Amino acid sequence: MTAKVIDGKAFAARVRGQVAAHVARLREEQGITPGLAVVLVGEDPASQVYVRNKHASTIEVGMASFEHRLSAETTEAELLALIARLNADPAVHGILVQLPLPKHLNSDLVINSIDPAKDVDGFHISNVGLLGTGQKSMVPCTPLGCLMMLRDHHGSLAGLNAVVVGRSNIVGKPMAQLLLGDSCTVTIAHSRTKDLAAVCRGADILVAAVGRPEMITGDMVKPGATVIDVGINRIERDGKGKLVGDVHYHSAAEVAGAITPVPGGVGPMTIACLLANTLTACCRAKGLPEPEGLTA
Ligand code: GUN
Repeated sequence: MTAKVIDGKAFAARVRGQVAAHVARLREEQGITPGLAVVLVGEDPASQVYVRNKHASTIEVGMASFEHRLSAETTEAELLALIARLNADPAVHGILVQLPLPKHLNSDLVINSIDPAKDVDGFHISNVGLLGTGQKSMVPCTPLGCLMMLRDHHGSLAGLNAVVVGRSNIVGKPMAQLLLGDSCTVTIAHSRTKDLAAVCRGADILVAAVGRPEMITGDMVKPGATVIDVGINRIERDGKGKLVGDVHYHSAAEVAGAITPVPGGVGPMTIACLLANTLTACCRAKGLPEPEGLTA
């Protein structure tokens, strides 16, 4: 079998188009412009690229983008004061503090100082608790993007065996909660899991989010399974830099029913879902109906 390739780039373009259409309606009919504030502390080069892309995408869908670039020496008190201002600013509907923060800043404290209703990353403990108890919450962008692609491919996910490899707070754990919410039978596997290959071979849906290049190989995939590769790893091969996922694409694609490539799979969905979450946060703040198909 050769797997169907799930085109995340095209899917993300569709989601951004839906967001843009909804934003245009909000502006015309209600005079409302959703706004996203992104806070970057320090000069981490990868974070700078992410923040630039987030800014460009926000503008492109017709939202307001507020960028706050702070020096690496910013104190916790200064950062908390900025977040308090953004929490109180009615033009700001979503707030994202780019991670990782410099070592002297307590990320948990900073994230939990964001108004949960504006926490478009879904990292605030209130949102984590709401998601875990099946209540309406802000949902982390990468797992939300994965869920959208899975729903699109399968229709209903009810009763399917899902294995999530990786237990991070950003991807693994919320992904498992979302799959459980869609009535999958969910296993979370990780670096200490015994006989990982056998566990993975039980999966109708296999989500790889471990951060280890090409760790999931074709022999670990059940024939016909859907493989979602969250990994983005930079490796050297044949003297050249290359991006690979957590899945060994070629061997897995021979066995899987459907698979996301790297690049062009999950990656583009993350920013699209950040925009979707900002729109959702804005609609909730204004007591307006939420955008259809863009929430969990
Ligand atoms: N750094 C890498 N990924 C993310 C993300 O999804 N959100 C935030 N805030 N920082 C990140």
